[in-house]
Amino acid sequence: MEMCSLWYKKHTSEFFARHMETKNALFWTLECEGKLLGELYVFKKLSDKDFADGKTTAYLCAFRIHPSFRGQGYGTKLLEHALGRLRKEGFSYATIGCEIAEEANMRLYRRSGFLKTVKTVCVDLCDVDEHGKPLDCEPYALLRKKI
Ligand SMILES: CC(C)(COP(=O)(O)OP(=O)(O)OC[C@H]1O[C@@H](n2cnc3c(N)ncnc32)[C@H](O)[C@@H]1OP(=O)(O)O)[C@@H](O)C(=O)NCCC(=O)NCCS
Repeated sequence: MEMCSLWYKKHTSEFFARHMETKNALFWTLECEGKLLGELYVFKKLSDKDFADGKTTAYLCAFRIHPSFRGQGYGTKLLEHALGRLRKEGFSYATIGCEIAEEANMRLYRRSGFLKTVKTVCVDLCDVDEHGKPLDCEPYALLRKKI
């Protein structure tokens, strides 16, 4: 429930919960003295294999650090932790979406090794309507890193 304070959207939250139950989605939270500072999810398999194919490539998303704690290295730590886990699970690549105009995010991802731009996408595979259909969104770049 506390995580919903960072973010809650009915059908999408249910979509995430379903994928966590089947272990297709993993998530990490960052806490300090019982306070939730951030979260990051990974999907191992999605309908578009460029994002996640269940074997070689996994997709990172819903990456958030509480506004009061940004710019102190927490996001980078969370990202590195998730990448370490994926490496252990045998994945070779991680992907992440980033709106081109989000310069600070783009800088963070490039610095973290997401150097390849796979393609530009206008649909968010992890944000769905009441029928489970992915919703359209602002264009963003799908970035990839070898892990
Ligand atoms: C994207 C996001 C998760 C990054 O988290 P973060 O904790 O701010 O990330 P970091 O602190 O690791 O890195 C951000 C910047 O802080 C700098 N930084 C790292 N450690 C630092 C420290 N100890 N002190 C000061 N700055 C530091 C980094 O160098 C980086 O600088 P840059 O702007 O030159 O690239 C966070 O900004 C966020 O929640 N944004 C809103 C949601 C969002 O856009 N999510 C991504 C798409 S879903």
